[in-house]
Amino acid sequence: MTEVATMPVMSAPQPPVLPLAAERGLRHCAQIADCSPDLLERLFLRARAHQEALDRRQVVPTLSGLLAINCFLEPSTRTRVSFEAAEQRLGMRTITIGAADSSMAKGESGEDTRRTLESYAPDVIVVRSKEDRLPQGWASRSRCSIINGGDGTTEHPTQALYDRYTIEEAFGDHRDRNILFVGDILHSRVVGSHVALAAMLGTRVFCAGPAEWTDVAAKFRAYPGVIEVVELDAFLPHADVVNPLRVQFERGAGESISLTEYCAGWQINEARLRRAKPSAIVMHPAPVNRDVEISGGVVDSPRSWIQRQGGNGQAVRMAILEWCLGIDL
Ligand code: CP
Repeated sequence: MTEVATMPVMSAPQPPVLPLAAERGLRHCAQIADCSPDLLERLFLRARAHQEALDRRQVVPTLSGLLAINCFLEPSTRTRVSFEAAEQRLGMRTITIGAADSSMAKGESGEDTRRTLESYAPDVIVVRSKEDRLPQGWASRSRCSIINGGDGTTEHPTQALYDRYTIEEAFGDHRDRNILFVGDILHSRVVGSHVALAAMLGTRVFCAGPAEWTDVAAKFRAYPGVIEVVELDAFLPHADVVNPLRVQFERGAGESISLTEYCAGWQINEARLRRAKPSAIVMHPAPVNRDVEISGGVVDSPRSWIQRQGGNGQAVRMAILEWCLGIDL
């Protein structure tokens, strides 16, 4: 008995403690506030160069040998695959897990998940979460770069960045264009990042939809005057970009309004688009629910930039990865 009581505690060896990400020269893209107007233009120039190199199949693997973990705790096609493609194009090694593979499905906390992933010393973790502000929290404690692949109803910064890149591609500029979001604004993390981005650029965005989904004063109280609620049919002739949004049934939308009522009032279809300027383009972060927020005919029409927009995600995310991992653009 006495012998056991005097035995020293067998402490587990501690893993080497890396400095915090910033001290390692790494950066985060956890929210739009991590960017600046000047960075935006440099990212776009770099993305354009990547796109041209991709077209020529001559991408330079600037991040060769670095490790990316893509942790997707909600379903994703575009964000997950375009990040993984971008990482591999740049020569990175990649590990990707989905919600069903993650031990969070067995009750592990988000913070324990972060600590576990970091114990494998990745250079970057791309994370999508159901929980609001989880990537921002990870970034404040992380020893690797954290990129937000969409968190709850808060932000989807890389989506907003490549949306602006696509608008610039369409019009030759992106700052002076009227962007109109239509539908489920309240639950949209894409709009969350667009509002933050518009505030950063000193511009505005517009939105239209049922009263329940455009009651956004509280959500955007930090950005007074940056998002204006308008009447859809009256504003369409002034919009340069018409951007319907998916109804986010998984976040409780669709309980207070019937789809029939929604489609009659706000669906973006051929008849409604006749009110828009001939030069107006249609964008959508996707996935789309055809014939709900947008008609199948509009998705497939020449006005639709939706496929181009999604494809642009790869080149813009290549530039974001390079910047986050310490390359000065
Ligand atoms: N736009 C977007 O985030 O699509 P995924 O959900 O397919 O990633």
